Formats: sequence, C-alpha cells, structure tokens
Amino acid sequence: MESKSNTVRVKLSKSKKDGFGFLVQRRESKPHVVVSDLIPGGLAVECGLISRGDIVVRLNDTYLTDIDYEKAVFILRSAPIGHTATLLLRAPDGFTTHLVTTFDENGVGKTIRVTSPFIQNDSFISRIKRSFSRGQSPIRLCNAEAPSDTLVDPTAIENSNNFSSAYSSDLTLGSHDKCSIEMEPNEPINKLISNVNSNHNNMIQSPKIYLTNAADDKHQSYTNVTDNNSRSVSNTIPSSPGNANEPCEQVDKDHREIKYVNTDKEATTAYHMKENESVPTPKRNSVATNRVENTTSDENRRSKMDSPKNYPTSESYSPGSRRSSLAVLTGIDGQKVSGERRSSQLKKFMKLRNLADESRASLDTLHSKVIDTVPCTPDRCLGSVMAHMNKRPPGVPRCKEEVLLHARDFIEQYYTSIKRLNTPAHLKRLQKVSASIEKIGTYELTSSELTFGAKTSWRNAPRCIGRIQWSKLQVFDARHITTARGMFEAICNHIRYGTNKGNIRSAITIFPPRTDGKHDYRIWNAQFIRYAGYRQPDGSIVGDPMNIEFTEICEQLGWKPKSGMFDLLPLVLQANGHDPEMFEIPRDLVIEVPLIHPQYPWFAELNLKWYALPAVSMMVFDCGGLEFTAAPFNGWYMGTEIGARNFCDISRYHFTGIVAQKMGLDTRKSSSLWKDRVLVEINIAVLYSYQVAGVTITDHHAAAESFMKFAENEQRLRGGYTADWVWVVPPMSGSLTPVFHQEMLMYKMKPSYEYQEDPWKTHVWMKDRDKKTSDRPKRKFRFRELARAVKFSAKLMGRALARRVKCVILYATETGKSERFARMLCEIFKHAFDARVMCMEEYDVIDLEHEAMVLVVTSTFGNGDPPESGEQFAKDLYELKSTNGRSGDLRKMSYIRMSVSSEPEDSQSISNLSADDNLQMEAGPLSNVRYSVFGLGSRAYPKFCAFAYYMDNVFNQLGADRICKLAEGDELCGQEESFRQWAKKVFEVACETFCVGNDFSLKDATSALAMTDYSWSPDKFRLTPVDNEKEPDLCEALSQLNGKHVLQCRLLQRTQLQSPKSSRQTFLMRLDITQSDSELSYLPGDHVAIFPANSAPHVDAILRKLQNAPDPDQLIRVEVLQEKNAPLGAVKGWTTFKKIPLCTLRTALTRFLDITTPPSQTMLKLFSTQANRELDKEELEHLGTDLHAYEDWKYKRVPTLAELLDEFPSLRLSPTLLLSQLPTLQQRFYSISSSPKAYPGEIHATVSVMRYKPQMEHEGVCSNWLNRLEAGDTIPCLVRAAPTFHLPEDGTLPIIMVGPGTGIAPFRSFWQQRKIDKEMLKEPSNGNRQGWGQMYLYFGCREIDIDNIYSAELKSAMEEGVLKEFYVAQSRNPSMRKMYVQDVLMQNSKAVCDALISRGGHFYICGDVQMASDVTRTLQQILQKEAAMDSSHAMDYILQLRDSNRFHEDIFGVTMRSTEVTDRARDQAKKAWIDKVGSSIELERSSKGSIETGKKD
Ligand SMILES: Cc1cc2nc3c(=O)[nH]c(=O)nc-3n(C[C@H](O)[C@H](O)[C@H](O)COP(=O)(O)OP(=O)(O)OC[C@H]3O[C@@H](n4cnc5c(N)ncnc54)[C@H](O)[C@@H]3O)c2cc1C
Ligand SMILES: Cc1cc2nc3c(=O)[nH]c(=O)nc-3n(C[C@H](O)[C@H](O)[C@H](O)COP(=O)(O)O)c2cc1C
Repeated sequence: MESKSNTVRVKLSKSKKDGFGFLVQRRESKPHVVVSDLIPGGLAVECGLISRGDIVVRLNDTYLTDIDYEKAVFILRSAPIGHTATLLLRAPDGFTTHLVTTFDENGVGKTIRVTSPFIQNDSFISRIKRSFSRGQSPIRLCNAEAPSDTLVDPTAIENSNNFSSAYSSDLTLGSHDKCSIEMEPNEPINKLISNVNSNHNNMIQSPKIYLTNAADDKHQSYTNVTDNNSRSVSNTIPSSPGNANEPCEQVDKDHREIKYVNTDKEATTAYHMKENESVPTPKRNSVATNRVENTTSDENRRSKMDSPKNYPTSESYSPGSRRSSLAVLTGIDGQKVSGERRSSQLKKFMKLRNLADESRASLDTLHSKVIDTVPCTPDRCLGSVMAHMNKRPPGVPRCKEEVLLHARDFIEQYYTSIKRLNTPAHLKRLQKVSASIEKIGTYELTSSELTFGAKTSWRNAPRCIGRIQWSKLQVFDARHITTARGMFEAICNHIRYGTNKGNIRSAITIFPPRTDGKHDYRIWNAQFIRYAGYRQPDGSIVGDPMNIEFTEICEQLGWKPKSGMFDLLPLVLQANGHDPEMFEIPRDLVIEVPLIHPQYPWFAELNLKWYALPAVSMMVFDCGGLEFTAAPFNGWYMGTEIGARNFCDISRYHFTGIVAQKMGLDTRKSSSLWKDRVLVEINIAVLYSYQVAGVTITDHHAAAESFMKFAENEQRLRGGYTADWVWVVPPMSGSLTPVFHQEMLMYKMKPSYEYQEDPWKTHVWMKDRDKKTSDRPKRKFRFRELARAVKFSAKLMGRALARRVKCVILYATETGKSERFARMLCEIFKHAFDARVMCMEEYDVIDLEHEAMVLVVTSTFGNGDPPESGEQFAKDLYELKSTNGRSGDLRKMSYIRMSVSSEPEDSQSISNLSADDNLQMEAGPLSNVRYSVFGLGSRAYPKFCAFAYYMDNVFNQLGADRICKLAEGDELCGQEESFRQWAKKVFEVACETFCVGNDFSLKDATSALAMTDYSWSPDKFRLTPVDNEKEPDLCEALSQLNGKHVLQCRLLQRTQLQSPKSSRQTFLMRLDITQSDSELSYLPGDHVAIFPANSAPHVDAILRKLQNAPDPDQLIRVEVLQEKNAPLGAVKGWTTFKKIPLCTLRTALTRFLDITTPPSQTMLKLFSTQANRELDKEELEHLGTDLHAYEDWKYKRVPTLAELLDEFPSLRLSPTLLLSQLPTLQQRFYSISSSPKAYPGEIHATVSVMRYKPQMEHEGVCSNWLNRLEAGDTIPCLVRAAPTFHLPEDGTLPIIMVGPGTGIAPFRSFWQQRKIDKEMLKEPSNGNRQGWGQMYLYFGCREIDIDNIYSAELKSAMEEGVLKEFYVAQSRNPSMRKMYVQDVLMQNSKAVCDALISRGGHFYICGDVQMASDVTRTLQQILQKEAAMDSSHAMDYILQLRDSNRFHEDIFGVTMRSTEVTDRARDQAKKAWIDKVGSSIELERSSKGSIETGKKD
C-alpha cells in the first residue's frame, strides 16, 4: 500500500522577502512540520511544486523528521537567504505525487505537480474516472482499482486548479495525521466500473488487412496481422499478454523516476522514464530556475524495476499524451516491443525535414495528443493501404467505456477551443455527458459541438490536401431526420448549397448517429454524384468501371440502366436501419462540365464531361465517441482528381490511348513519355473547361502550396498536423510540388472521418431479420433479396430543410427600436430560415463561430458607444478579435477605438475572392458566418451609427462574410424606411446565398414588414370591458412591459435652483427610495430612470376626439384577432394584445403611450382613413406619402397628437388604432445627484425643465410632469448602473470634472461622496501618492447670478477642501466675454495636462453631446500644446485614456442646445437620406402603390 512515490525534491533559492514562500504548521506526529499555506506570489507558488499539506522531511542534509517542531522551524528559518536549498517534501500518506508536463497548442510545455490519492488495483475505469477529475492533466495509468470513496467529485476540482488543493483545505482544518479525503463518489462513472469487466472482452477479433491494388482488383492480397510478432489490432479493452480475459494492467506501478531532459535546441522539454538500463538515461535539466526531481520513496527500488513487458512505451506514457488512455483500451502499446525498439520510440517529438527547404523543418508535438492508433505495427508500415477499417465488427456499436473516453477527449477539445477549459460549464457538460452515457450508452452533441467536430475532423483528415479551408465548412445538422425521404431532401439541399451555381462551397450534412448498430443511417453511394459503370457481355466496360458493383445494386433496386458513358446514378439511402430506398437526383441540381481543350478543338469531340461537386458520402464521421454513419461532405475538385485519376487511371475511364492517338504520339515505347504528355493535356483540358464553365477548381500546384500554408498555420497553432504523404502528394508532377519534399507524420487525431464497410456488405435485410434459422443475421448482399426496394420519383421538396439553416438576429437597444426592428426581421426570415432573435446581452459570443448567418440590428448611444445591452458583447467580440486577429495592429486597438475608426468598407469581403484566393487565405474564426448589420442612430450625434460600424468591421475582420452592406437608419430622417429597404435586400441576398426560398414568394415573406402581426385595421382589434378585475399596480405593469423591475418612489422635496429672474427652470428633486420592498441601490455616477406621465390636458384633448370609445375610466382589455395554425388549417382567434396592460383608456394614454412625438407617415396614412372632411383626408394622405412634405411639416411644427387633432378638426380616431399603433412612452434618465452614503434611502436628481418653441410652446413630458408633482406623489423608477462613470477606485488620483448646466448633476454625487469618504475613511495612499486626489470642477452657466446652481454647496465644498478648484464659465454675462467650459479648460491647460499626464488623473464630462465633442477637441488641443503631441497622437492619447477607463462621458443626448443642434443635424440627415434611399423609395412607391404598415416609430 505504501509502495508509492510521494516525495518530491525541490531546489529553491530562499528570497529575502518571503523566504521559501510557504508557511508551516505543527503536525502532531513526527515529522512535525507541514506546509500550511503558500504565500501568494512567493517562490513556492511560482515554482508550482510545493503544495499545502506537504510534510517537510529534509532541508539540505538535515532531516527534520525526528526533531521537534520548534527546532525544525528554526532550521528552516536559518537557511541563508540567496542560497539554494534542497527541500525534500512528502505528500500526505495515502497520496502519490508526480510531475506533469502539458503542452499547449504551440508545443510550449508547462510543468506542474500533481498529487492524487494512491489508488490500489487501478482498473481501466478508475483511470477514466481520474481523467475526468483532472481537467488538463493527462490520464495516468496505475494498476490499482479505485475504492469508490476515494473518487473525486469533479465539482470539487472546479474550485481548485489541481488535485492537491482539493484536499489541502482538509489539512488546514486539522486532519493532518490522516490526510483523508472525503469526496462524493461520481455516481455515473462509478457504475461503469461494474460494467466494464463484463463488456470488455466480447469484441476481440483479428481483422485481416486487405492490401489492395487500386488499379487492379485481382492484385489483392491479405495478411493476418495477429501473428506472434505483432499485436492484435482490435478496438477492445486490452488483454494482458497471454490472457485475453483479463483487463490489461501491465503498466507502470508509479515507482518511476521522472526526469526532464532537454534534447532539442529549440528547448522543447522531452520527458521520459528511467525504467531500466535499456532505456538511455537522459541528461538532467532544470525546470525554470528550480530543479526538481520526483523520486520514489524507496530509492533502491529503482534498480529493481519491473521487466520491460510491464511498461508502455514512453510515448504511451508521456505526460500530456492522450494516447496513454487509449493505450489501455487497445492494449497495443509495445507489449511485445523489444527494449531496443522502445528506446527508439522514446523520442517524444519528431523533427520533420523539408528536403527542398531546410527552413521549413518542423517539430511535431501534436501527435502526443492522439487517442487512437494507426494500424501500422513496429514491423510493418501500412502507409499505402487504402482503407483502414473500423476494428469492430460491422453493426457493433462502441462500448460505453470507449464512448466515454472519446467523449471526454472531445468535450475537452471543444471547451479548449472556446477557451473555457475546466470552467464550471465544462465540468457540468462532462457530467451530463457521462451520466447520459452511463444511462443509455450514448449522448447528444450540441449543435455547436457538432459544428466544431465536423470542422475539426476535416482539419484532422490526413489525406486531404485542401485543408486550409477547414474552418469554412457549412454544417447542416440533419440529426432530426428519420426517413430515407428526409435524407433525400437534405441531400438535395446539400447539393444545391454546395454547387452554388458553380461557385462551390464546402458543406457537410450530418444524419443521426449510430445507436445500437441495427438502426444505422447510410448513404450507399460512395459519392452523391457518380457515373454508372456497365460490364458488357464481351467483358468490356461502358461508363465508370469503379461503379460497376454499385450500378448493379441500383439495377436490382429497380433502376433502369441507360448504358451511356456518363449516366448519373441514383441515390440509395438507408434510414434508421431500414432497407434502402432509391431516389433520382433532380437533373437541375447537378452541374456537369463538358471538357474542351484550349488548343485541341478535337478534344470537345471526345464528349467527355465531369460533374462539379465532389461529395464523399460513404465515410463515417467519428466525433466524441459517436459514429455518424451518414455524414456526406464536399469540397471542390483539384484538377488531377479528374484529369489524372478519373480519366487516366487504368481502372477508370482510361482515355490515355485515345487521346495519345488524337495527339499523334508514339505509344509504342514508354520512353517517349507519351502517357505523361497525355496526362498533362487532359489535365489542362480539365482545368480550362472548369474555368470556362465558371466552376470552382484548383490545380495541384496551388493546392500543394495551400497545403504548405495550412501546415505552417497548424504548426503555429497546434504544434503540428497529421498528413498521409502517400495521399497528399498529387498524382502527377509530385516532385514539382512542395509537399513532395516535406516529411510528414501520419497519426490519427479525433474527431475524424473514417472508412467503413460498404453498406450492402453489412446490411441485414428486413426479410431476414426475424428468421430464427440462424443465430447470426445475414449481412451478405445477395441480389435477389433486393426486390422489396422502393423507387421514388424525385420531386424536390426543400422547404422544411431550408429552414434548417440557422439565422440569429442580434440586437442591442436602449429605447427599444432596435428590438422591434429585429423582431420584424425575424418574421421575414422565418419564411426561409431557422431564425431566432436574441439580445446581445443574452448571447454568448463563443457561439458565433457556429452560426450560419448573423444579422445585427443595433443603435448607438452615449457618444458613439454601444447601448448598454450591447456593451459586454462588444467587449467579448473585441477579445475574440484580439486573440484571433490577423493583424498585429488590431490587437492593440480597443473596441472603443474601433468604433472611432470604423469605416463601412475597410476590408475586402471574403465572398469577393476567387477560389484560388480562398485557398491561400487564412480564414478567421467567423469565416463560415454570413452577416449584415443595420445601424440605428441619429445624425444629431457626431458619431453617427458608430457602434453599428464597429460591429460591421469586427465581423469582417474575424473573417465573416458580409452579404449586404451596412445600412443606416437615421432617427432624424427615414429610419423606418431605411430599415425596410435593408430588410428586403438582406433577405433576398440571404436566400440566394443559401439557395433557399424558391418555394415561396418573396412578397409573402416581406409582407411581414408591412403587415407585421399588429398592423391595424378596423376589425383586427377590439376593446373588451372588464368589470370584475382591479387595474394592476402601475409599477408591476411597467415592469412587465419593460422587462425590468420598476419600483415606486416618493417625491420628498423639489427645490428650484435657478434664480426667479431666470427664464428657465432647473430643480433639485429628492426621492424617497425606501417605499418598495426592494430598495434601489446605486453608486455615484449611476442614473435613475423615471417613467413619466403625459399631461392631463393632452390626454383629455385626445379623448375628446375619439370615435366609439368606451368610458375613459372603464377598465378594458385590448385584444387582437390573430391567425393560428391548427391541425385543420389556419384559424383566427382573439388574444390579449400585450403591449397595453389591463387598464383604462385614460391610463393607457397617460402612462403607456407616447402622445407627444410627432406621428409617423404610416400613422398619418392610417389617420387619413379616419378624417371626415375630404380636405383633411387629402392633406393627411399627402403628408403620409410625400416624404419631403412630411419632413418639412414635422420639423416646423413638431406636432404632438393633440396638436395634429387641432390641425385636422374632422379627424375622429378609433381608440384601437391609437392603442395598437402609438409608440410606447419611454423612461427618461437622470444622472443621480446624491451619494448614497450622504443620503441613505434617497436619490437626488437635478432636472432642467424642458420647454421649446418650434411654432408654439412645447413642454417636455417628464421634466414638466416632475415639476408639477407634489411632495408625497409617487414616481415609478429604476436605477441604471453606469460603471464607466464611477469614481476611480484609487482615491489618490486627481479628477477633472466638466459639467456645464445640468451637466453638473452627477458631480454633486461625487463631491458628496468624497466629503463622506474624507470624514469616514483613512487617507488613501498608493506608492508615492498620499492622501485624497484633488478634484477640479469646470461648470458653465449663462450668468453667475441667475443660474449658478449649487453655488452655496460648492462654496462649502471648497472651504472643506473637498474641491481643489471650481471654475465657472459664463456664456451670457453682459459684462464679460462669452466663455464656455472648454475656454476655461484651455486657460488652465497646464494644470489639466499635469493632472492627466503627470499624475494619472481621470477626466469626466457630463452634458449634451455637442458640448462633449467640443470639450474633447479642446482636450486634444491642450495635449498638443502642453505635451508636444501632434493632433493624431493627442487623439490617440485620449482614446488610450478611454480604454483605460480614465476618460468618462455621461451624455444626455441633444437636449440642451437642441434647436441649434437639431437644425444642423436635420439638414444633413435629410440630405443624406434623400441621396441614399429617398429616390429609390419613390420609385418603389410608384411601381407598387403605397407601402402598408401598421407600425410607427
Ligand atoms: C444618460 C442620461 C442622463 C441624463 N441626465 C439628465 C439630468 O441629470 N438632468 C436633466 O435635466 N436631464 C438629463 N437627461 C435628459 C433627460 O433624460 C430628458 O431627456 C430630459 O429631461 C427631457 O425629457 P422630457 O420628457 O422632459 O422631454 P421630452 O418630452 O422627451 O422632449 C424632449 C424631446 O423634445 C424634442 N425637442 C426638444 N427641443 C426641441 C426643439 N427645439 N425642436 C424640436 N424638438 C425638440 C426632442 O426630440 C427631444 O428629445 C439625461 C439623459 C440621458 C440619456
Ligand atoms: C443619450 C443618447 C445618445 C445617443 N448617441 C448617439 C450616437 O452617439 N450616435 C448615434 O448615431 N445615435 C445616437 N443616439 C440616437 C439613438 O441611437 C437613436 O435614438 C436610436 O434610434 C435608438 O434606437 P434604440 O431604441 O434601439 O436604442 C443617441 C440617443 C440618445 C438618447
């Protein structure tokens, strides 16, 4: 039991600061000294080799084992600083400890120490269990069965990086002596233990390997590889040598010495065991600065190591090697390999030369990750054997244990790929998968895992030369399909998508995986498209000789042979283990290219042709332990496949003789090289013909170059690549291509595409299934048994499947418009796609990679920033870009910078590149994603639609394919129309891109734009009086409508801040926030959102003009007549219209509907139908259709609904029209003006009362409502955090605050907070900086005596030393020059620069957007002036400040100087809009009549 390695020797150079970097604690029994804790950042942590719970056995030569604790500690303390000391540490009894080196994708090694419980009698399953519990560390092999109570609950590991820390907490709790661990057994995995022994023996067999002559069937031979000199190639639980019934446990006993060697000049760490003398002992090497040795507890044991047969090869044992796990499974690792051979295999990493270019030599480390073996033996290389079949008998599914092992490996790969390895999500997924495997022997891959698996399989395909494209694989998930007909439809869609009118695209369709082996899905065709081959009575062959056997099967199934040279074979499809069914491929799906030659006109007369789409359909997609027996995939052709192989191979069409004759070549002697000349010409013809026909093809030179590029990428990303040289080197001119000269290593990475037995050789026919005559089902194909086969006519029905193409519509919104647009878009896309809408904040950026199409609808807020709901997504996307970015420069840019530098067309769209470019291109992580962006914004803001541009650019840079140019929707002009234009366009292009949508009318689909669910017509809505219910609480109703928790606050006090002489009003409002159950919490800098009420006169004016309206104070429910799909067809029914909660008409108009924003054109058109006077009708119609007239009218009057009703007196409106079509009344934000510490239970706001006068006096809804409320009135509120506008964490830093007018609002909360902090907290210090950072306030007003709000408070803040300086800029003081805040800033440029640059200060701006832009420009000038920066450097510096969260903006919008701003902006907007879409809209209108819609801005 104690024969285990649990000591470790560590050399450390003791540091002055924290000694050895660990703390010790007394242990009751001897030896006394135990490591109780590690000092963060100390030596022990840094070296990673000392763990809590370690017993300190020896320091240099002094044993601490027999001396008392005090003495031992004294000795440790007295170790001289700066000298290297050797510590001998022992893991607690019952544990083993060893070192593990793991390698990252780049082959960079990292060594850690792993301590784990010593497990006796370790079985295969206990090893699996430990592999589960260990996260990154490789599976290690022991020979003891694990008692179940020592198993590790993966969740215990979740909280710790390695096993040792999982138990060390127990030690510190005092269980030092026993060091026992009590962890929950892992139930599902435990159960597997009991199953394993019964399962593992039943599949051992000795397969024969057929040596095939691909050109000549007759030259086949076979060999039985299970002779005495080699191992059995069985995919089974291993048997120990000599006893097939016992689990294989002939692995190391953990008593080994592990040393590091550094064999390579590139400093790669090799690793091996010193097992016996036949293994060369490596040179010792140090690990980082500290040398370490892992020793056995009994050092003499080393000389008595077990005999060689008991060891796996070093490779199978190598730390970091996943192969070790499967080594047990397959039982193949060097059991019979001589010591000599083993020693040659000890070389961990393989250096691969490039014989043409030594600089291309590489070191392969990737192979250390394999979990499957190649079929070669130490005696025989099977490199040229055509197909390495699955080692299990046909129809036998994988055993649970093997599924589990593969699943674990795959899930680990997947979570590594999404950078979430060992996260709770990973462990949770692992648990779920293992529980499912335990229960039903299998599990389901998520669609993201499936996509990742399919792409990775391509990446891992050793024989494929075109792998540079691996990430650009379109995955069609067809796992829901259950019938052959369904398979046929999916395949038709695949062919159509892949062919893409000749512009071939890579795709895979994945049907359900194997279950019990009796319900397999199979495509009997080797490729989707193949030409029939007919053997003639005279022995000659017509058509493609390769397909003779399959053609005969088709004939037996009832297919009528056509006896031509190029007859398309039908699809033979087997679903769910049923007998196969046959389908003709619709002719219009198949593109064929007639062959012509650029110089030889006679070539066309040969009537040769070939198809465009090479789609392999017989391989099994082996992913995560699941076997997808039908998973056809396609890429595009390399010319030689057709020219050399299909037309010149002796076993194929073999046209060499005919062409030679036409060319007039001397075919009598081979030395004339006539065959070679023919080969070249046929290949020229193929390439030329495909190019002329516009069908994607690549030549072998380009393909080989692209492969070298792929290899280079893979070397960089994964430390190597697997490649089968025999296949990668093209069939002609091999040595002219670079791949010929490249050494390659062939190994089996998972997931993968594998060969499988021809289905007709394994299928059990229905009629044979119930026969009791034989125990074994018949699998052999016999022709006469095929009579039951069914033949279908081939009408293409792709609609259902087309909808399998995923489309996610992501939106980010602040006030709800983007969401509404996104939902409208989804209605359209649902007609042809599997479309769903998601808010960016709910979406995990990691999933992007696996989307087929992403549509982004987003607004811009702040000053070019994302709306809050897009903030995190923007950051995550930026991170994704930084880790994957192709350009080094991009990595340096923050996402904010990106928005600033965004340009609509900054890089070339991938779709514009030619196939050859594609081959050369390094694809980004989103290379398989199609996308388009719609931006909502307002030209009143300097950074118009900046966030949308940011999105557009980042997607592009991540390699996504922009299918439609970004479109902008300007709130000031034509936003909705621009959206309609874009939505239609993007839908059309998307349908074209994915070859879907020809089965429904585009008009129907896009009618969602005009008639979304809730467009209005007189009979579509109704109001139902409700008598026996109570009107719901307002805050509850608002919470429901807004999806946020709205709370009720009470007005405590309102204080006017401006002098009575002022023409304007600003007030301080104090709210009591203790009214509701849950209290609002906030920090200085946050916002309070207020849900206002419309004024009673406005509401009354509207109520007076309604027709057929119920009593305004009657409780009503608004209902909508909607069509629903029912089993007998569509039926109509009334449902509640959720936009308006149960309330009275008066409440609806007061609380829920926006009645002051000028009605939209759509609304005016609807109103025109409600006017009783012809003149009103006409005018409304005119305004509703003539954009220019409407824009002028709207701009001049800014009419509210009540004003419009005055203007058109004959209008009598239907209440349902208003209730269903008016936009929702929005919340208003106010920067909180109080500190929660200074005023607990209160929120203060500084509100400027909004009044403006376009033609007549207008009042802002919220500010005027607040101004009218009495103390004690209730106000629905919520708090919105503004994390980018908080005080700096480091209180010592100086702060510059710029806030003219109401912009001072948040700064009041700052100075209040600082005052309290100064009173209550200790003075902060940070390095040289001592004490509270200085605060400078720049305020702006018209005239100091009139609107210098908070002047008294500011005066005391100055006196109390809270504020260092307070500057006031006056813009309308008759006795002074006009000054704005930016002018005062400029006057203090030195101090500003000093605070920011020399003292690392923070800069805050609050107020309207124009002021913020002006101030930023001034800051830029200050930096130019004082810090000698040029203008771009200065702007860069400001952006850096923003990136590092030292430049903060709180933008109110355009409210403050709105007249000037909107005037200018609107002119621009109008011009831009008319230039862009106005004319096309006019055109569209005249051709289609009016655009119907029920929606309004
Ligand atoms: C993050 C943030 C923080 C804010 N903090 C504060 C704060 O601390 N204090 C404060 O007072 N305000 C603040 N605001 C502004 C505030 O939210 C409201 O916008 C403001 O109070 C006006 O709201 P209202 O309902 O009274 O006016 P509304 O009814 O919303 O009317 C304002 C609208 O009227 C229109 N309008 C205004 N002037 C004209 C004109 N001349 N011509 C034509 N149309 C015009 C514009 O469309 C404008 O948006 C903040 C805004 C934001 C976004
Ligand atoms: C405070 C505030 C700041 C804004 N900042 C910008 C901006 O920087 N750029 C821009 O184009 N639009 C800006 N807008 C306009 C919004 O993007 C526009 O109103 C949009 O239609 C809102 O869409 P949403 O409802 O989906 O959020 C801003 C609006 C507000 C109220």
